[in-house]
Amino acid sequence: MAEYDLAVRGGQVATGFGTVRCDIGVKDGRIVALAERIADAARVIEADGLLVLPGGVDSHCHIEEPSRGGYVGAGEGEPQVTVNEESFATASASAFAGGTTSVVCFIPQWKGFGIWERYVDYRARAAKGMLDHSFHQIISDPTDAVMEEEVPRVVAEGVRSLKVFLTYEPLHLSDAQFLRVLTKARELGCLVTVHCENYAAISWRTAELLKHGMAAPKYHAWSRPPIVEREATHRAIALAELVDQPIQVFHVSCAEAAEEIARGQARGVKVWGETCPQYVALTAADMDRPGFEGAKFMCSPSPRTTEEHARIWEMIRRGTLDVVSSDHCAFSYEGDKGKRQNGTGAVFRDIPNGIPGFAARLPIMFSEGVSKGRITLDEFVRLTSTNPARLMGLAPRKGIIAVGADADLALWDPKKKVTITNALMQHAIDYTPYEGMEVTGWPVATIRRGEVVMRDGKVQAEPGTGRFLPRGPYDMIRPRGVVPDGFDPAPPASR
Ligand code: URP
Ligand code: ZN
Ligand code: ZN
Repeated sequence: MAEYDLAVRGGQVATGFGTVRCDIGVKDGRIVALAERIADAARVIEADGLLVLPGGVDSHCHIEEPSRGGYVGAGEGEPQVTVNEESFATASASAFAGGTTSVVCFIPQWKGFGIWERYVDYRARAAKGMLDHSFHQIISDPTDAVMEEEVPRVVAEGVRSLKVFLTYEPLHLSDAQFLRVLTKARELGCLVTVHCENYAAISWRTAELLKHGMAAPKYHAWSRPPIVEREATHRAIALAELVDQPIQVFHVSCAEAAEEIARGQARGVKVWGETCPQYVALTAADMDRPGFEGAKFMCSPSPRTTEEHARIWEMIRRGTLDVVSSDHCAFSYEGDKGKRQNGTGAVFRDIPNGIPGFAARLPIMFSEGVSKGRITLDEFVRLTSTNPARLMGLAPRKGIIAVGADADLALWDPKKKVTITNALMQHAIDYTPYEGMEVTGWPVATIRRGEVVMRDGKVQAEPGTGRFLPRGPYDMIRPRGVVPDGFDPAPPASR
């Protein structure tokens, strides 16, 4: 019997902590050897001329989630409006096509309802896919029963991040509710992830725009300019600082918001910033395309400008933004995205937010980042794999190439030029916002726990093979020192 199940030979291995030319030996789904030469393997993949990257970790993506409504299979009386069309199986295929092997997606909570049943439901849904997965638990209604009984139960299962929205009807939390979530997260050892936009400001601007007949998709950007993101980011950081609770600010789209994060970090606040490919590749002008096409680019925060793209790259280079996720949240144009033009009228407010992005994430960030000389290969690997794995408590199992880690790998051709088409995305959606974009650098194979799940664009994984990734207590929460559990009256600055 061969010593190794698989050997990946001769590639430039970008480990997450530097790049080295070596072979990788895999046994029972794990990396067991990094060596100059590995000979005795049942299967060999030659990687000469290729980069070998840790499989991508996408720590912010929406799969089978409701939008402005209930759930697929909603119970009696639960609202049902519209749901992401991507299933866990189709999402897995798209992620593998783009070199991603692990995700952290969401368990929704609808106002007026609990979370335990949804947890059980989403575990079963995700088990039908092929991606290794964990969850953020959305809290949209932090009642006593939810916060004191159900949240501890879900956290004990290994769901170690709570997600809150500071905008969206009906998801947004008040400051008091947000403080309650921060406090509970601290007590239970969880990260808190936050959608930072000011609900009242967006509602006011939306009402004014609609009053003046400004209803087309392009007015989505007008309804939520950078200032509403900056204000909510500032507030989220201030409240997190007060509680001394780590947070990650999701999908940072503009320098104004990133600067708030940089200031918080400089004060020692445990705040991290994530951005997404759409904030370096799409602009608000895309939402002004003829007809109703602009709906295809609508996500929140809004895509901005090319000047803002340059500032986002600068914030990435400084390390202020250290994770790039897809925020994949997909609705077809022939389905819910475009349907609104005939149904409820072409009102931007009624178009579901979110764009598909699983398969495009790594190619766009590699091409715009590494191929164009904005970031190093090492920075690219950390942004798209190592940092999200570390921040989400999935390291060292995920996000690095090291002995003992899961054998999740993306074999990458750094010179391959590809024009992005919807078919290449391999998702269940009828468009990609990146149609026609030329990229340099493309995944030629994806390996999940030692199994080749994509080769030359052909996805070959069995549905139902993805594994749940339970996470332990969040290890970046500072201890209270001498103060026993409970309220610490000292203001943050004096700690
Ligand atoms: O527009 C977006 N980003 N939709 C997905 C939900 C969210 O806000 O993350
Ligand atoms: Zn969001
Ligand atoms: Zn999102």
